[in-house]
Amino acid sequence: MAQSSQSSRDQHGRYAAQTVPAVHRVRSAAEDVALGFAEQPKRLPPKYFYDDHGSRLFDAICDTAEYYPMRTEGQLLAESAASIMAAVQPGHILELGSGTSRKTEHLLAAAADQGQAPHYWAFDVCDSIMASAGERLHQRFPWLGMSVLLGDYGAGLAHLPRPDGRCLYLFLGGSLGNFEPEESARVLGEIAEHMRSGDRLLLGVDRVKDRSVLKAAYDDAAGATAAFNRNVLNVLNREVGADFDPEAFAHEAFFNEAQSRIEMHLISQRDQSVHVGALGRDYAFPVGERLHTEISRKFTPDSLADELARAGLAMAEHYQPSDGAFSLVLAAPRY
Ligand code: SAH
Ligand code: AVI
Repeated sequence: MAQSSQSSRDQHGRYAAQTVPAVHRVRSAAEDVALGFAEQPKRLPPKYFYDDHGSRLFDAICDTAEYYPMRTEGQLLAESAASIMAAVQPGHILELGSGTSRKTEHLLAAAADQGQAPHYWAFDVCDSIMASAGERLHQRFPWLGMSVLLGDYGAGLAHLPRPDGRCLYLFLGGSLGNFEPEESARVLGEIAEHMRSGDRLLLGVDRVKDRSVLKAAYDDAAGATAAFNRNVLNVLNREVGADFDPEAFAHEAFFNEAQSRIEMHLISQRDQSVHVGALGRDYAFPVGERLHTEISRKFTPDSLADELARAGLAMAEHYQPSDGAFSLVLAAPRY
């Protein structure tokens, strides 16, 4: 992987992604379907939500009244960006799962106010969303050098670029909660290993709260989350030659108390059989059959502290609103 911090804009001014080589072999979509559909209930890794349309549906979720994480974390960033940038003074900002990079703008604006000009490295599994984020960021911050990195953070982070100079890593939005505990420990540990002593990680995680608030955030009245959830079936139709009828599945979201997580499922509304061309086989989806599409873990201050400690990270600052709805943590490697 090139260590240069040249902008990823080509001669036509478009953002072109560099692919980050995988450290571990990544399973193909067909392998993920074969493994996940053998489980009870059937399951899928959440990365399949984020084709171009899915990334736009996620952005629509962020604008619903019910989806508080976007607003709450945005507000925390607006309030803390100046002190974070003054304390870290990064030469580079590297964001995992950057998506639209909307909240990153608070940090870039604070950098500009303080006469800093960090290079921005966006890393995501969806290249189209990074390219459109790049266009928007370029309009607002013409000075910004930006590199677009395409990859899967489940494939290992050791091959991410490690340019000279202090780096502020971002992992926002509560995305850590989309991993099972052992996977999140591995990903956080890999981030910690990538960090040098002056580097910092800004981590956003969602907190346990009133169950009705949590449930509504994942089942908004306008149906943006339901559309996002069903869209994964369109992705499977394209990626593994399946013939799902997304309208024949209902969206469901609930809080799993024992595991302190929201779960999203798709529930078959009739007896049906789905053909998966890439596997040359059919799967039965009798009425009521579930496909478990996402977990979104919700943390307490204690479980968050444990998560950081297990990864070898120390909490330097903890920003949270007075109702404790969300945590934004500035973390440092423990050495
Ligand atoms: N960080 C942004 C976006 C969150 S949505 C925010 O806080 O608003 C989650 C983002 O992670 C999406 O842009 C999605 O494409 C990306 N993503 C999901 N799984 C990924 C994976 N395995 N590797 C890299 N990016 C992934
Ligand atoms: C990206 N991730 C943190 C979101 C979440 O809240 O778990 C994805 C999402 N799923 C449904 N709504 C939003």
